[in-house]
Amino acid sequence: MEEDSKEGRNLPLRTAPSATDISGPAAPKTPRVQPNEEPQSKRQSPLVELVDVKKYYGQVKALDDISFCAREGEFISFVGASGAGKSTLVKLLIREERPSEGEIRVAGRNIGALSFADVPFYRRKLGVVFQDFKLLPQKTVAENVAYALEICDVDDAEIRERVPKILSLVGLVRFAKRYPHEISGGEQQRTAIARALVHNPQIVVADEPTGNLDPESSLEVIETFKKINETGTLVILASHNKAIVDNLKRRVILLRDGKIVSDQNPGRYAL
Ligand SMILES: Nc1ncnc2c1ncn2[C@@H]1O[C@H](COP(=O)(O)OP(=O)(O)O)[C@@H](O)[C@H]1O
Ligand SMILES: [Mg+2]
Repeated sequence: MEEDSKEGRNLPLRTAPSATDISGPAAPKTPRVQPNEEPQSKRQSPLVELVDVKKYYGQVKALDDISFCAREGEFISFVGASGAGKSTLVKLLIREERPSEGEIRVAGRNIGALSFADVPFYRRKLGVVFQDFKLLPQKTVAENVAYALEICDVDDAEIRERVPKILSLVGLVRFAKRYPHEISGGEQQRTAIARALVHNPQIVVADEPTGNLDPESSLEVIETFKKINETGTLVILASHNKAIVDNLKRRVILLRDGKIVSDQNPGRYAL
């Protein structure tokens, strides 16, 4: 893990914007900040912005008037009891669902208005991690990660170069040739995280990523998200795990019955 970590720190997580980039041209690397000027992070428009978002499933109001902004480099945990609306929020962010009312802007673009054809391109700009790892059991760790690139027609030379770098970031180089059933749950989830990183996402969204893991594996997974966040990636985590969220000491947004009841930075979880 130690060797992996050192190597992983140098991994460039961003590629040049492609024709389908939702974020437009990249910001200059070293912005010049004048005295008395607000820091860059304050002035930059938010990466994710929700404005009065409501989501109904028939008569059920899953989300009610949700508004918040999330900026590059933030690590935000959405917490709340079962049924509070966490997964609905994740589904809206990854454009699996559309809001019933309100607007969701990601990198300035209203994602509710994306055409059916644009959705796959949008999703490639996000890293998405779920509770169940969704790995291909007949492929090794490295092959699971490579496959996410293969299906996007990335050429073999680039795949050979990128996969070890991503595995290094999540501390899995030495498990590259193992199959999912030969590694722990935490390692399987880290493989899924590696796969989520193949397109250098600006945003990683995770819904209960530690839900199937023991405390030790959960910690490994959270440490991996922290490392990804250190590279500037916005991490949005939905979790009901009190210990994990307390431990992060980062921004916490508490949902209750589909509403935001507190938004604290750094926050602690309380029901
Ligand atoms: N597809 C759906 N159809 C109907 N109701 C749903 C659906 N998905 C979620 N809900 C309801 O929306 C509310 C929020 O659910 P969810 O977002 O899954 O909460 P959480 O992830 O915090 O447990 C719950 O009342 C749930 O029953
Ligand atoms: Mg949920």
